Parts: sequence; structure tokens; C-alpha cells
Amino acid sequence: MAEQFIGLKSFSPKAETRTIKPCPRLEGEVVLPGDKSISHRAVILNSLAKGKAQIANFAPGGDCLATVRCLRALGVKIGRKGSRDSPTLLVLGIGEDGLREAGNVLDAQDSATTMRLLGGLLSSQPFLSIITGDASLRNRPMGRLIEPLRLMGAEISGRGRDSFAPLVIKGKKLRGIDFTLPVPSAQIKSAILLAGLFAHGNTVLYQTILSRDHTERMLKRMGASLESQGNSISLLPLSSPLVPVNLHVPGDISSAAYFLVAGAIHPDARMVIKDCGINPTRTGIIDILLAMGARLKIGNERIEASETLADIVVESSELKGIEVGGDIIPRLIDEIPVLAVAGCFAKGETVIKDAGELKVKESDRIATVVSELSRMGAKIEPLPDGMIVYGGRPLSGTDVDSHFDHRLAMSLAVAGLIAKGETTINHAQVAEVSYPAFWQTLRQITEY
Ligand code: S3P
Repeated sequence: MAEQFIGLKSFSPKAETRTIKPCPRLEGEVVLPGDKSISHRAVILNSLAKGKAQIANFAPGGDCLATVRCLRALGVKIGRKGSRDSPTLLVLGIGEDGLREAGNVLDAQDSATTMRLLGGLLSSQPFLSIITGDASLRNRPMGRLIEPLRLMGAEISGRGRDSFAPLVIKGKKLRGIDFTLPVPSAQIKSAILLAGLFAHGNTVLYQTILSRDHTERMLKRMGASLESQGNSISLLPLSSPLVPVNLHVPGDISSAAYFLVAGAIHPDARMVIKDCGINPTRTGIIDILLAMGARLKIGNERIEASETLADIVVESSELKGIEVGGDIIPRLIDEIPVLAVAGCFAKGETVIKDAGELKVKESDRIATVVSELSRMGAKIEPLPDGMIVYGGRPLSGTDVDSHFDHRLAMSLAVAGLIAKGETTINHAQVAEVSYPAFWQTLRQITEY
């Protein structure tokens, strides 16, 4: 590999407001950032593999860069080439016993995926690790990570009687477990699988509801002995090193969701969303928008490194409200803020339930979505596990706040495109966490 290992530019949040004006037409092609969940897994698993890998279209946002920085601090050499919005990472995998104790506290910043996946992995490594994050991440539940890892024999503890980060981990040899996941969390599932790779004995997981399966797909592809059948997963500890995998990360369907909703609710819209990942454990937003009456067409389907991607065309639609709950929730959990925006422009009520997990995301998304859309004139009520949106009332632009939640910032921008008057979004810079080019893409489709 001839490329130089150079530093990634660090993500420095600065206070920023964005003003969104209603626009007469939405038109054009949307190029998505690489999928965040797949990017985290690709760089972690390739770091543990033996040999070189290239990860093209790596997610450019702050969350995945936090994972890269932590892995570098643990001794992995990771370089970068290509553009800021679609970088290619060059990973020199150091094999199953190559990680080294970091010289300092690891910082996951705003990224729960970084903290939880590395929390599982580091519990199995023979050294001390301390991992922290920003104020939002330090308030998110970590007991759900600590408990199963302790059943595997891990010495891991956290602030607030083992409820929160920072986490202190004295890594050691673990044992496999048979475990039923109490919450359908792909982060916890992946943390246990990463720990299980290095444990004595098999790890068997049962999922009451399926969550995103990128870790399982990638582990299989890299040669791990993993079988998933229905809701259960069985993993054998590594007997030979993981095989590095080169891949082009599909576009992030969670980022596509803003444009899918914007296109469906705008009276004059036609957009093509290119190269979007459509892994079935992630496509709840497509299923729900179709059920609401959205005009979406999915074409050019193909498979890339065990993940399916496609181009999606969205056009102005007449939406009707529906009830959203049950097993579909983990398949669209990150898209619920923008789904609430769709509900504001649908005929009738959109009821979202079984989504109590919204309360422990980057903000309490039941409270923040209800408060900010209410400011814009929406009729929306919180439920203990979701919300009811009464559609068909026009929204008015006003001052709103992201509450430092990237998904809320971008959802409010979508609402602002159709609201009357100007919408000013405070702390809009937080979109950087998953989609640094969001504002630029928005400008392109509104200025067609
Ligand atoms: C993710 C899993 C989900 C999701 C998050 C990314 C992942 O979280 O909300 O944005 O990459 O595994 P949970 O595991 O907490 O459900």
C-alpha cells in the first residue's frame, strides 16, 4: 500500500444556525454518505483481520471518525484517501492479538455504536481501557452493555453504579454465553459477538425482535463461524484470523430518509436517490412510507459485500396517516423523527408506538420531536412509547432547536421546506455526526 497514513481531520462542533426557506420544487439526484452502521463494523472488523483492506465510501460523519481515532489509539494503522464526503480508508489489520493498550482515555464522542462495540471488544483484550464520550453519550444507558458482558466474565464498570460512561474495562479472557437480548439493540448484539470472537466456548444469542444484522453479515463474509437462523445467532470463537474484506459502503438509508420524506410531502418533487443500502433489517421507513401512499420506485438492485443496494425514485405523494408499531420499530428506529414530519403532512392520524427506545437516543426523541414540531404549529402528542401526529395542518416556519441531535436537525430542515415562512434551526452543525454534506445536498435539490 503506497498511500501515506495521514490524520483524519477532527470534528469540531461550532454553534451554527441554518435557515430553511420553503421552495417551489424539489428535483435532482441525491448522493448519500456511506452507511454509518456498516462503516463502524467495516473498520473495526478489518482492524482485527490479518492484512490490508480498503473501505471505499466510508461514512464521513463524526461518529465513524470517532471509531477510527479509538482504533488508532489502540495501535491500528488507518490511512485515508479520496474526498471528504466519500473517503476511502486503508486499514492495516493487526490480527486477533494485535491491539495494544491505549495511552489515554478513548473518546467515543457522540457515538454510542463506537462505545458499545468497542466496549465488547475491549472486554476481551488483555489490557486496561477507559472509554468516555460527550455529555449526550455519557447520559445514555450502558447497564444494558455491562450486564451481558459481566455474564461472560468481563471486568467492566461504569459511572452511576454501572449505568453510564465513562466505562473502565480490565480486559481478560471471557467465556461464551447463551443470552436472550432484552432490548432489540444491534449495538448490544454486536458488542457480545465481538467479545465472543475471543472467548472460550460458543456464544448463542436469541433476539425477541430482529435488529440490523450488518455485524453478522460481515463476520460471515470474513470467515468467522457464525450461523443465524430465524431469531438466533450462534458464534464459535475464532480459530483462524478474520480475512480482510475490501468493500464499497452502500449509501445510508437513514440519511436517504430525509429526502424520501421531503419528496413524498412536497407538492412538486421528483428525486433519484442513488446507491442506497436496502438491507431488509433497515427498510422499515420504505415499508411505512409505501403503506402511507408514498410514490417510491426501487430499481437497479444489486449486491455488494453481502449488502443489497438500489436506486430509489421518490415523487410528490398524497400521504395518509397509519399506525406504526411492533416488530417494524427496530427497522426504522432512527427514521422516526422524520416519519413524524411525514405524519404532519398526511391525512389523518399517524400513531407511533412500541418505540420507548426513542427516549435514550442522542436526545429524548419523544420529547424533542414533539416540542420542536409543536413550535412549528404541528398538533402532536407524546405517548409513553411514541407519539400521535394529527396530520393535515399547515406548519409555519419559526426558531427551532436541534437539541444537539443530528436526526432532529435534519428532520426539522425537511419540515422547513414545506412550512410557511422561514425556519431557523439552532445548533444545526450537529448534522455533521452522520451527514456532513446534508446542507449542501439540500441546496442542490432546492436550487435544481
Ligand atoms: C445502531 C443501532 C441502533 C441505532 C443506531 C445505530 C448500530 O441503536 O439506533 O443509530 O449501528 O448498531 P441500538 O442498538 O441502541 O438500537
